[in-house]
Amino acid sequence: MPDSYALFGFPVHHSWSPFIHGLFARQTGQDMVYRLQESPPEQFRHDVLEFFFEQGGRGANVTLPHKRIAADLVNELTARAQRADAVNTIARRDGELIGDNTDGVGLITDLTRNLGVRLAAPRILLLGAGGAARGALGPLLELQPSTLVIANRTAERAVELAGEFADFGAVSGAAFDAIEPLAPFDLVINATSASLKGEVPPIPAHAVGSETTCYDMAYGVGETPFTQWAIDHGAAVVAQGWGMLVEQAAEAFHLWRGVRPDTPPVLEALRARAMALAASAAARTRS
Ligand code: ATR
Repeated sequence: MPDSYALFGFPVHHSWSPFIHGLFARQTGQDMVYRLQESPPEQFRHDVLEFFFEQGGRGANVTLPHKRIAADLVNELTARAQRADAVNTIARRDGELIGDNTDGVGLITDLTRNLGVRLAAPRILLLGAGGAARGALGPLLELQPSTLVIANRTAERAVELAGEFADFGAVSGAAFDAIEPLAPFDLVINATSASLKGEVPPIPAHAVGSETTCYDMAYGVGETPFTQWAIDHGAAVVAQGWGMLVEQAAEAFHLWRGVRPDTPPVLEALRARAMALAASAAARTRS
C-alpha cells in the first residue's frame, strides 16, 4: 500500500497540489498517493483526526478555511507555524501530529531562488493584514528589511499585526493613503484577497518604480488584477504565486519524505498546464 497524504480544504476541487505532489513523487521515486479531501468546517476536526490519521494517513496539507483551526488540532507546532498562528502542513511522527507552516519559506525561496530577486536590507510593502499576510511576515522579517510597511484597507488591522511582530524587526502598519516613505519600495507583495474578486487594492503609484519587484501571492491563468497593475506601473519584476505554491509544497514534501524535490521542472510543468487550460478555455469560447 502506498503511503497516504491528503489536502483538506473547503473547497479544494480546484487545487493543483495533487498534480505537484504527483510530479515530486515520480521524480524522487516515492511510493505515495495524495488526495483531495473536501471538508466543511464543522467536519474538519473529525475528518483529520478520526477519518484520516486514525486510518493510517502519513501527512496532510491544510488550506482555507482551516489553517488556523489546524494549529489547535496538532500535538506540537514548529516555531514558524506558531508565529504564523496557522498550519498548512501536518506530519505524523511517532504517533504525534506536528503542525508546520511552509507558506512563508515558499514565498522567500521563490523570490530569491526562482526569480533571482536580490534582497539586501530591502524596503518591503506588504499589502493586506489577513492570514496570508500574517504567514509571510515572519519569513519576510528574517530578510532583515530596512523598512517593512503593512498596508491594509482596514488600517487598524495593519497596525495591530505590525505590533504583534514588532519584536522581530522594523515593521509598521498604515492605511493605503498613508504609506511612507513616498518613494518606491524594493518589493511589493500582494497578500490581500482582492485578486480573487477581480480587484486591485488602492496602492499609491509612488510605491512602485522601475526597480521594484511586485509579487502577487494569488495566481491565475493570465495576469491577475495586481500583476496587470504592476506591469502598467513599470515594475522591474512582476510575478504571481505559482512559484510559492510549488516551493511550499516542496518544503512539505521534504518534511514528510526526507527528500527535497527539484522544483524548476515542476514549476515549468505547471506553467505548461496552465497555458494548455487557457488555450482550451479560449477554444471553447470561440466554438
Ligand atoms: P486571507 O487569509 O486570505 O489573508 P482574510 O484574513 O480574509 O484572508 O484577509 C483578506 C485580506 O484582503 C484583508 O487584509 C482584507 O482587507 P480588510 O482587512 O480591510 O478586510 C484584504 N482585502 C480583501 N479585498 C480587498 C480589496 N478589494 N481591496 C483591498 N484589500 C482587500
